[in-house]
Amino acid sequence: MRILLVGASGTIGRLVYDTLRERGHDVVTVGRSSGDVRCDVTDPVQVEELWSKVGEIDAVVSTAGHVRYAPLAELTSDDFAAAFADKALAQINLVRTGLEHLAPKGSFTLISGIPSRDPVVSGAAAAAVNGAIEAFARAAAIEIAPRRINVISPSVLEESLEAFGDFFPGFEPVAGAEVARAFVKSVEGAATGQILALP
Ligand SMILES: NC(=O)c1ccc[n+]([C@@H]2O[C@H](COP(=O)([O-])OP(=O)(O)OC[C@H]3O[C@@H](n4cnc5c(N)ncnc54)[C@H](OP(=O)(O)O)[C@@H]3O)[C@@H](O)[C@H]2O)c1
Repeated sequence: MRILLVGASGTIGRLVYDTLRERGHDVVTVGRSSGDVRCDVTDPVQVEELWSKVGEIDAVVSTAGHVRYAPLAELTSDDFAAAFADKALAQINLVRTGLEHLAPKGSFTLISGIPSRDPVVSGAAAAAVNGAIEAFARAAAIEIAPRRINVISPSVLEESLEAFGDFFPGFEPVAGAEVARAFVKSVEGAATGQILALP
């Protein structure tokens, strides 16, 4: 398959890239300052340019998006707006504008994260944004068939424990290889409208 991978240089993106390549896929990588095609997916103009550069795609995989972790009393309206724009709206717009560039039985696989189903202190913005992505995917799935859409929702990765582990006390981390495997399940399988929660 020809797969567009947004965020391929990141912690999750690198693992997903290696796994998809090992499985024989042609992977077009995207990032703001990295990848085969440079594109800030929060910018609709750059996203339109992205589609015109890449042509038809069999699968769109997103492993990007930043959300601020801080106590609710310190999170501002701007923090919530920025988190929503960077992670939720950017991925929603990738789907909305990508539909016409996706093969008839192609798929979207988005990224969310565990705080939407298992809250953590300082994770209110992450919970809200991840929940929005998951709700969107369930709703989009019933309109885009036979194209498909799923969301991967991991706990903190073993590979990210040093950076984020303190926000997830007592949580079971997930191996990056398992997260990459979930992306393969979404891309190569037949599921749609699913939230693939890990572990
Ligand atoms: N790491 C974890 O433990 C974990 C667990 C659960 C969920 N998640 C979620 O998974 C996603 C990725 O996490 P990560 O730890 O892999 O992040 P990361 O290491 O910071 O990587 C982010 C990647 O996305 C790209 N990117 C960021 N903003 C972009 C934009 N506006 N347009 C295009 N590309 C963009 C970056 O490349 P450029 O800098 O070149 O743009 C980079 O390749 C996040 O949404 C995070 O919340 C992570």
